[in-house]
Amino acid sequence: MTAAGAEARELPIGIFDSGIGGLTVLSAVHRRLKREHCLYLGDTARLPYGTKSRGTIVRYALQAAEKLVERRIKLLVVACNTATAAALPELQKAFAPLPVIGVVEPGARAACAVVSGKKRGGNILILGTESTVNCRAYDKAIHALRPDASVRGVACTLFVPMAEEGWLTGPIAEITAARYLAPVMGEEAGDDRFRPDCIVLGCTHFPPLAGAVASVAGPEPVIIDSAETTAEAVEEELTRRDLLRQPDGSRDTTPSGRLRFLTTDAPERFARVGGIFLNTPLAPANVELVSL
Ligand code: DGL
Repeated sequence: MTAAGAEARELPIGIFDSGIGGLTVLSAVHRRLKREHCLYLGDTARLPYGTKSRGTIVRYALQAAEKLVERRIKLLVVACNTATAAALPELQKAFAPLPVIGVVEPGARAACAVVSGKKRGGNILILGTESTVNCRAYDKAIHALRPDASVRGVACTLFVPMAEEGWLTGPIAEITAARYLAPVMGEEAGDDRFRPDCIVLGCTHFPPLAGAVASVAGPEPVIIDSAETTAEAVEEELTRRDLLRQPDGSRDTTPSGRLRFLTTDAPERFARVGGIFLNTPLAPANVELVSL
């Protein structure tokens, strides 16, 4: 192993999202790759990305990625579905040869695995932000793997502030989920009623609302959170490039990787709400305020 190779393996994985929700992806990456250092950036000052135009999302995503690249990373994860859907090719081009992994393709792969046993394509419902649904990035990724799948998308805009507010269960979460799903899956859809085999939570903020979605959708559809499959894709890519951090041969136990956080606004709030997404308290001293 060259000295440069050994140094590259020690670099963190960079992960960015428009805000705090992408911590669900960080969490999955850290669970799977305990030894890896991670550097997370949440562009909280400019959240939401999901209601912005494609041009603005591309510009924001390039700036956020640049900040992580400046700090030196070995791989970039675009944890934000909206930024992946709108800007993945631009990010891959701008930062080549750095590997850049988005969340849409792993989510599409997981959905196709669920419907793989069906004789006909299968029904897949995507819940995302307005921009993710309009970009049809999931539709394209699913159809590339399974051309005969039926894909429908629903923009669930209010789920984002609800998740940030911690309103994840109970009547408000369930009524909101019912309001979004009724025109597609409910009686009001009439002949156009869609019966999904699986529902993709195509937004960083939606996994904590999975229970509310399930309470409306019923037990049939499999609910997919792409965080786990994204973590798998990160492991595959680091293995392929021989970039995984190696165990410390001189010790019996390998120390866990360091997690560091950057935010573009209100570090105390990031720490407080971030703890909910990470399922573990986050010390404000670990969160650094940066501008893009
Ligand atoms: N991170 C965004 C996503 O996954 C949700 C929040 C936003 O709209 O910025 O689509």
